[in-house]
Amino acid sequence: MKIMFLGDVMGRAGRSAITDHLPRLRKDWKLDFVVVNGENATNGAGLSPDHAKAILDAGADVVTLGDHAFDQKDMLSFIDKEPRIIRPLNFSKASPGAGARVFSDARGRKVLVVQALGQVFMKRPFNDPFSALDAVLKQYPMGGQVQATLVDIHCEATSEKMAVGHYCDGRASIVVGTHTHVPTADAMVLPGGTAFQSDAGMCGDYNSVIGMEKTEPLRRFITGMPKARFTPAEGEATLSGLYVETDDATGKAKTCMMVRQGGALSQSGPAV
Ligand SMILES: [Fe+2]
Ligand SMILES: [Fe+2]
Repeated sequence: MKIMFLGDVMGRAGRSAITDHLPRLRKDWKLDFVVVNGENATNGAGLSPDHAKAILDAGADVVTLGDHAFDQKDMLSFIDKEPRIIRPLNFSKASPGAGARVFSDARGRKVLVVQALGQVFMKRPFNDPFSALDAVLKQYPMGGQVQATLVDIHCEATSEKMAVGHYCDGRASIVVGTHTHVPTADAMVLPGGTAFQSDAGMCGDYNSVIGMEKTEPLRRFITGMPKARFTPAEGEATLSGLYVETDDATGKAKTCMMVRQGGALSQSGPAV
């Protein structure tokens, strides 16, 4: 299968890039399955039902969330009505929605999508992602019930993301990091056959501080004093993520490549 993952959609700039470019990329690159992280799509904080619909309509098969999953309160009820939205597996036992679900592509191939939150440097202490992922990966082995598995590991530390990659190596087609909004140049297929990238980067305006208009973050860094709210930067966004080709028989990744399309970042992606 040809699978693409796109990192955190950041505000209006990120949403516009998705609606403007994803339909074409899906066709040009003959993508079978697309997963998009939408945790910052609504003004940088959470995902409203309308913005979730826009991302799905543009060509995402599944939208993942993150620590900002329920910043938009409407998501608390909407997530139970829209099965194509996945929240972190280890968010809270009380949270609505699901952290893992099996989906089908247009040809009926099964794709497991899972999201977990890390623990290092996160604002809240979430439950252990390793045991949570282990249980789900054992329940849906690749090459059997599912043809491919994608794990979105949402956390701050590259060390923890890499550890999750190796922990899932051979048991997932793709392990890709989100949350830090800057793509790392370590896209690779691990020894056991899992495509990995520590951070997919954001779909947002990179002339910013991780997607926020840079004046207020700079003020806070320089003076230590807040004066205004953070607002998403509104220049042209770069769509940023990972493209992976997998083997249907084993679920393992054959090849992978970083995706960077439009906006300020140097461009990358599969040849048309
Ligand atoms: Fe996050
Ligand atoms: Fe984010």
